[in-house]
Amino acid sequence: MTLLDILPSLRGTTRPRLDPNIWPLTTGVDELGRITVGRVALTDIADQYRTPAYVLGETDFRTRARRYRAALPQAAVVYAGKSLLTTAVARWVAEEGLGLDVCSAAELATALAGGVDPARIVLHGNAKSCDELRNAIDVGVGRIVIDSPMEITYLAGLVRRPQPVLIRVTPDIDIHGHRAVTTGVTDQKFGFALADRRAARAAARILATPNLDLVGLHCHIGSQISDPAPYGEAVHRLIGAMADIRTEHGVLLTELNIGGGHGVPYVRGDAALDTGAFAAVVDDALTTACAAERFQRPRLVVEPGRALSARAGVTLYRVCGVKSQPGGRTFVAVDGGMSDNPRVALHGAKYTVALANRHPLGPSVVATVVGRHCEAGDEIVHDVELPADIHAGDLLAVACTGAYQHSMASTYNMVGRPPVVAVRDGASRMLVRRETTADLLSRDRG
Ligand code: LLP
Repeated sequence: MTLLDILPSLRGTTRPRLDPNIWPLTTGVDELGRITVGRVALTDIADQYRTPAYVLGETDFRTRARRYRAALPQAAVVYAGKSLLTTAVARWVAEEGLGLDVCSAAELATALAGGVDPARIVLHGNAKSCDELRNAIDVGVGRIVIDSPMEITYLAGLVRRPQPVLIRVTPDIDIHGHRAVTTGVTDQKFGFALADRRAARAAARILATPNLDLVGLHCHIGSQISDPAPYGEAVHRLIGAMADIRTEHGVLLTELNIGGGHGVPYVRGDAALDTGAFAAVVDDALTTACAAERFQRPRLVVEPGRALSARAGVTLYRVCGVKSQPGGRTFVAVDGGMSDNPRVALHGAKYTVALANRHPLGPSVVATVVGRHCEAGDEIVHDVELPADIHAGDLLAVACTGAYQHSMASTYNMVGRPPVVAVRDGASRMLVRRETTADLLSRDRG
């Protein structure tokens, strides 16, 4: 039940308390005004697991995975584990029929522990070590995406049987989307440039290496992209490059991996990538590019991370204190911060926050929610409307925190990282436990 159900007279005069585009699909408000996710009151999670805590809606994650498969029936959907990975998440990914993209030894180990078929794992990374490559080959990962000349040298010495590989190329596409991060341009660390024949030279070396089976090209043009057009452009450029390889070497590449970067809304009014529109643009680009080059349509692979994991996650914080400074600003300090959410300081990310333990009735105040860390930039949400009577002990929930938070958390100030708690159908279960002071001290050898 939402606030609007309880106060029907407000209907039409105010917006819903929790924007369904930002909060998990299973979010609700119970009769006490407590926010629920997966039919579990967030106050119960906070009481049982303490705060801060990452809450993950399993139904949300699985539903979005299914929607992707439905929107792109001809494509392989490979979830980018860097956005959020635990063994349970890996298991959901496998059960929903997705592949998994990993970029470190521990991500690979987590995927395998979660029961992901190695053949459905794609290994990424711009600085893979020889040991990482050896391990990936030994466990039988389905695809290795080659990102540097040194990797070709390592792989040449390691492969004893055919290993499918792709080349990561930079198609020189500059996305100017809102808050987007660009990785598709030439002047950055990833991939081989199409320009200057760097990618062509890598292809020639790989094709000349026994047991390196070049199956396709890969690109990842950036993050938080809401306009599907750049993906269409990427398809055109990569099909052109695949046609050039056919001409030069007589080899037909059959796989086109166009990465992830699909945008999601963090605050009201943010644009999101429409999966249907994306599918249509990419399909159209494949049809026209393949016709122009008389190229056989390759198997399409997409690698969304955030679009599957971000909205499944909510972070819970307990309010520690409220302070009004002489300058007029009100600071609401909570028991977490930049250690569990580095994205505000790192990317200037904006978030949506809500009071989770009671109805936010009465007058409101514009406040800044700050963390507990010794850094002035340790903010979670800037200038947000909160109830004027907010006080220590209240519970705040921050939406859209499933992606790049647990996976990017630190232990700054020796604050242990929060637990990850999954909710579904009225029940909660801990996927990752809280990091304790004993955990932190256990690495210190004195
Ligand atoms: N594939 C490759 C090769 C990638 O490098 C990435 C993300 C993805 C797929 C998934 O992108 P997604 O769909 O999740 O946007 N730390 C930043 C995000 C960095 C993403 C890097 N690569 C943030 O906090 O927003």
